[in-house]
Amino acid sequence: MAKMWAGRTAGETDRLADDFNSSIHFDSRMYAEDIKGSMAHAAMLGAKGIITKKEADTLIEGLAGILSDLDCGKLEFDMSAEDIHMFVEQVLTERLGDVGKKLHTARSRNDQVALDLRMYLRAELDEIVKLAKDLIAAVTEKAEEYADVIMPGYTHLQRAQPILFGHHLMAYAMMLLRDVERLGDCRKRMNLSPIGCCALAGTTYDTDRHFEAGQLEFDGICRNSLDGVSDRDFALEMLSALSILMMHLSRFSEEVILWCSWEFKFVELSDAYTTGSSIMPQKKNPDMAELVRGKTGRVYGDLMALLTTLKGIPLAYNKDMQEDKESIFDAVDTVKMCLQVFTGMVGTMQANKENMLRAAQKGFINATDLADYLVKKGMPFRSAYKISGGLVAYCIRENTVLEELPLAVYKAQSDLFDTDLYDAISLRTCVETRISEGGTSLASVKAQIAYVKEQLK
Ligand code: ARG
Repeated sequence: MAKMWAGRTAGETDRLADDFNSSIHFDSRMYAEDIKGSMAHAAMLGAKGIITKKEADTLIEGLAGILSDLDCGKLEFDMSAEDIHMFVEQVLTERLGDVGKKLHTARSRNDQVALDLRMYLRAELDEIVKLAKDLIAAVTEKAEEYADVIMPGYTHLQRAQPILFGHHLMAYAMMLLRDVERLGDCRKRMNLSPIGCCALAGTTYDTDRHFEAGQLEFDGICRNSLDGVSDRDFALEMLSALSILMMHLSRFSEEVILWCSWEFKFVELSDAYTTGSSIMPQKKNPDMAELVRGKTGRVYGDLMALLTTLKGIPLAYNKDMQEDKESIFDAVDTVKMCLQVFTGMVGTMQANKENMLRAAQKGFINATDLADYLVKKGMPFRSAYKISGGLVAYCIRENTVLEELPLAVYKAQSDLFDTDLYDAISLRTCVETRISEGGTSLASVKAQIAYVKEQLK
């Protein structure tokens, strides 16, 4: 494709340099945003009398034709074009003749690319929010299904205190809900229009930036033309929010992987979300969860790539910034896939209630409750803690559990012990009495579920 900027330079560009310079193979995915941005620009030029109303209409009609031809595949991208902006303008000029050449009045590719990227990412962000909400709904539904299933809660991956599986799942629902919120915050700053900043300094034409911003559903405009064409913090913010989202999915994945192991056997994944081994017939591998965990590193890499690209470049636009797209596109594609697969995997996951309960019964995870029992009868917590610890040590020596120790053994430690201790340390009581707000009691889990459902509306 002939260079539209061939003015100062006359010599041919080296072919390899041309390929190196070209971004159409990845920025063509923003074609709809590029064309819609140009339509708004043409409308503004017409409304302000910078071109005639008739010329504006011709441009808009021509652009609409290119959009629908690209949509249906009638028009194909010319991979020898420098980028999507040049491609669209070139086709427009081929189709309309000289009037096509008027489109680029009072703008530059610098504000054009910043505009396209903001519009493109805004739509992707909305899609990701939708997919994240689907996942939150699936997690919440599972939490509801297994609301009262007792499992061990862990710290240091050591059995700590009994909790409800519903409570554990709702922890992830809360995290994901914040991810949705974070994306919403990011959208506010993303949704400001850079078009009209032109190359870097604004323009001598009497443009109306608010008109264009309004047409393209922006909430306002970037208030400094250098900033508008130079910064990509909206993409960085989105990458940061996506990295945190992936971190949450990765932790969840890690737990699913552990829970599927023979050592835990807390959950069973549907065959639809597992794979077999080519050599070991007994295997049912949680590949989806492992891949989500693995792809988290990839999204972090995308964030680091863009941060590093931007860190040393002077104002205003520099070609380094063309490198902004592939990383954010990769992150967007990755996150969308991960969310969808994860939703399916969680939605079809079955809990093994008996194994969860059995694991909760063996780790003395009611030792805190035993201490609390004495405290409620008047003993200071530290003294109660000591007695409870001593009884655990005794159980380990005698190969038994707290629930099965005879009352006499308890009495020998403290007169405060009575027959009601057995109910006090039953796992169900341990869970049900954790009534503090946000705790693991069934009422609290139900309140959390109701809260999240309300937020999803
Ligand atoms: N393809 C370029 C990019 O993605 C568009 C902007 C080019 N601007 C320029 N002055 N060369 O950054």
